[in-house]
Amino acid sequence: MENPLTTKRKPVIGGNWKMHTTLSEAVDLASEVRNRLNSYGAAQTLVFPPFPFLGAVAQRLADSHIGLGAQDLHFEKKGAFTGAVSADMLVSVGCAWVLVGHSERRHVFGDGDEVVGKKLRAALTAGLKPVLCIGEKLEERKSGETFAVNRRQLRTALQGLDTAQLQHLVIAYEPVWAIGTGLVATPEQAQEVHADVRAAVGELLGGAFAAAVRIQYGGSVKAETAAGLLAKADVDGLLVGGASLKAEEFAAIVRARA
Ligand code: 13P
Repeated sequence: MENPLTTKRKPVIGGNWKMHTTLSEAVDLASEVRNRLNSYGAAQTLVFPPFPFLGAVAQRLADSHIGLGAQDLHFEKKGAFTGAVSADMLVSVGCAWVLVGHSERRHVFGDGDEVVGKKLRAALTAGLKPVLCIGEKLEERKSGETFAVNRRQLRTALQGLDTAQLQHLVIAYEPVWAIGTGLVATPEQAQEVHADVRAAVGELLGGAFAAAVRIQYGGSVKAETAAGLLAKADVDGLLVGGASLKAEEFAAIVRARA
């Protein structure tokens, strides 16, 4: 049965630039994204440039419909945390969004579920809209733990928060085995996890919230695979890495559902 609420979920497509671009490349890419997508209203477009370029990109995106986010944050408000960036700093340079718990933060930099939960709270306290990233590793999928791993990551991050605090939450399901590997999940693989993630959100926060929350898929998305993924009932958007560095391809991905 088609859920009538699903038709109300506007797709949200994010470009995670990771550790790519120089200042001039970042500003050029932001300009290109703005030129190609600012007037496109059928999906919400977000970009996540590297920290040093956020202020410049914010200026380039001022008065546009393209949302700006950071790729990470630290959970403390301020203090002796050399190299770290706080939520308030992100707000002060014009960020409205932030990725929390991206798989590279979890698996390259060692952020555990608890740290991710603290970062989520710090983002919410500062008024940033979070994209909470979850996803299983290949060995976890192979051993049949996919649903359990995603549910655990979700539960430890969301526990104790309420629907008012989480009103802008976006969830990104990014299977680790699909990130940067060229090995995209099939639409069916994405859909079955998204449906279970939505069910888990319902258990934690109620059915109405679960029906409205947007769940992105991420992992080797390209222009030619975007439409098939977005056609699935519980896939409400995409989080794009490599393909978001080319404005033309990113714009094709944002427009893919039409
Ligand atoms: P790729 O699209 O390069 O696989 O990266 C996905 C991702 O991690 C987006 O956050």
